Amino acid sequence: NSRVLTGITTSGTPHLGNYVGAIRPAITASQSPTVDAFFFLADYHALIKCEDPERIARSRLEIAATWLACGLDPSRVTFYCQSDIPEIPELSWMLTCVTAKGMMNRAHAYKASVDQNHAKGVDEDDGVTMGLFSYPVLMAADILMFNAHHVPVGRDQIQHIEMTRDIAQRFNHLFGAGKEFFVLPEAVIAEEVATLPGLDGRKMSKSYNNTIPLFEGGPKALKAAVARIVTDSLGPGEPKDADASHLYLIYKAFARSEESKAFHADLTAGIGWGDAKQRLCDRIEAELAPMREKYEALMQNPEQIEETLAVGAQKARQIATPFMQTLRQSVGIRKLA
Ligand code: TYM
Repeated sequence: NSRVLTGITTSGTPHLGNYVGAIRPAITASQSPTVDAFFFLADYHALIKCEDPERIARSRLEIAATWLACGLDPSRVTFYCQSDIPEIPELSWMLTCVTAKGMMNRAHAYKASVDQNHAKGVDEDDGVTMGLFSYPVLMAADILMFNAHHVPVGRDQIQHIEMTRDIAQRFNHLFGAGKEFFVLPEAVIAEEVATLPGLDGRKMSKSYNNTIPLFEGGPKALKAAVARIVTDSLGPGEPKDADASHLYLIYKAFARSEESKAFHADLTAGIGWGDAKQRLCDRIEAELAPMREKYEALMQNPEQIEETLAVGAQKARQIATPFMQTLRQSVGIRKLA
């Protein structure tokens, strides 16, 4: 069986980008009988960008409920919280010791902070923590702990998976002695939705504050967010450039190709943006409404979520604990068996 693994950082409310980029393809993959799936809540990653404990706790529940509402079957999928697996930060340290600092200097998230600081004219590492700097190493530990072959993610994560391969190769080379400890993982990207745009046309992202929430706030919040999608100022009757419109791209992520073609034709023929937004809302709502009901029921029952995660953590540790033991031996900090 091939192993599929992915995670979401528990620093905010799940949005449409998380859903189309990661959750939906991951759940589909997990339904194949030849796949062993590992889906998790990246709560140690959340500490990097969020110093609000209540927000992290709330996000943890929201993201767990989202996975389950979207169809994750915990009897088939190993579904857990990163911080319940102490072997992950332990592995992260081992990997840190074989990771070239020069490679981390090139990581997008770190470089973005440095660039911003240059633009502001302050010290380039101003406000940069070691957490942010080493973020890709912790992510490598997430993936390598379970030797995932495939990692369904949005385009923004590709670099992290390339770095994971690099780190895995280096570890195999140094300590493998002919044995390959780590599988080299591959990113799985759904081309059509690799980068879902947000309200303003930039990548939909918590950090840009341009997200459309997946379930939170119900249909009302969805409608209010869709109303805020930026469009040009052409009126009804005037032909719209569908391909240049991020509203159309969001529609496409939720529609079958015939529906998208029809929508494209109607935009070109000049339907008003108000009508277009209503149609987008209806299309998204048709997919989300049944899942939202489940989401709301789960959010009323956090104990059930905690139980599910506790069982998942046990399953995950059945793999992580012996593997970590092997890795400790391989680097020489435990006697060779
Ligand atoms: P995070 O929490 O930022 O995002 C979770 C997943 O959603 C995808 N995504 C998008 N896809 C398409 N369009 C968008 N606008 C969009 N916004 C977000 C992300 O690509 C991601 O797949 N570092 C990761 C979490 C993580 C992880 C891992 C993922 C930690 N360890 C191991 C895979 C494997 C992150 O912060 O994702």
